[in-house]
Amino acid sequence: MTKKNGVTEQNFNGQIDQEIDRSLQQVFADVRQQTEQICANLLTEDFVVQPASFVSPPKWHLAHTSWFFDCFILEPLNIAQTKKSSQYHYLFNSYYKSQGAHWLQTNRGQLSRPSVKEIMSYRQGITEAVIELFESNSLSLKQLEVIATGIQHEQQHQELLLMDIKFILGNHPWPDAYQQIADTDKFLLPARALGWLESTENISLFGARIDDFSFDNERPRHRRWISGFQLSDRLINNGEYLDFMTDGGYRRPELWLSDGWDWIQEKQITHPLYWRKKIKIGMNTISVV
Ligand SMILES: [Fe+2]
Repeated sequence: MTKKNGVTEQNFNGQIDQEIDRSLQQVFADVRQQTEQICANLLTEDFVVQPASFVSPPKWHLAHTSWFFDCFILEPLNIAQTKKSSQYHYLFNSYYKSQGAHWLQTNRGQLSRPSVKEIMSYRQGITEAVIELFESNSLSLKQLEVIATGIQHEQQHQELLLMDIKFILGNHPWPDAYQQIADTDKFLLPARALGWLESTENISLFGARIDDFSFDNERPRHRRWISGFQLSDRLINNGEYLDFMTDGGYRRPELWLSDGWDWIQEKQITHPLYWRKKIKIGMNTISVV
């Protein structure tokens, strides 16, 4: 009895399907490693800052995604991974109200302790402990389901990590690149002409299939009426967006929906958040907003 993406089911004897159990273990190990890979290019100082209230320091994400497994898998087995777990529990719980009080999101950047090194060590301890549980074949179906949820939760935080790192590095007066890309021309050069994909009106199915992992707000699967529409067959590139800007895109209300126009007026927005205009003065190139 199997499900996709490492989610498990019992077989007819009530045993966990060992093949699926192993695939969930591999998915777990891969996702833990991917999270660390996202942070591989950061300096230690990048892990700590919180330049806006809606951004979390990368080290918090690393700890919080580990806390999930500590709290919901290891703690009930009395093998929580640090003697400081009550402090960690307070600091790295987010908004799981059933799990008690927690440090405020807006204040996450105030914490220089625990250090990045301690958090990486905490993280490694959690990964190893969960893998040991897999290896022992002692995990119940319920525990495997919790681990599958923890994996999905960590993947959500991977998206948040990328968003927050982008804000952290892009918020500097001299923004630094997250990743050096050799061929930047392809983002600016004219692309092939836009094509349009047509969808006629129809009744479509929405919501998660029952044989795959889903969060509760992705269920139930249901039908909805969809009006006909056209959708571009490719993304626009930066060069095309620059054309929009030089054509007065941020000054022409007819190009915006009402809410969007109100928003750029109120915030005095004239360009995408992370874009900087570079001007040359003598031998120097400087960025101006
Ligand atoms: Fe979370």
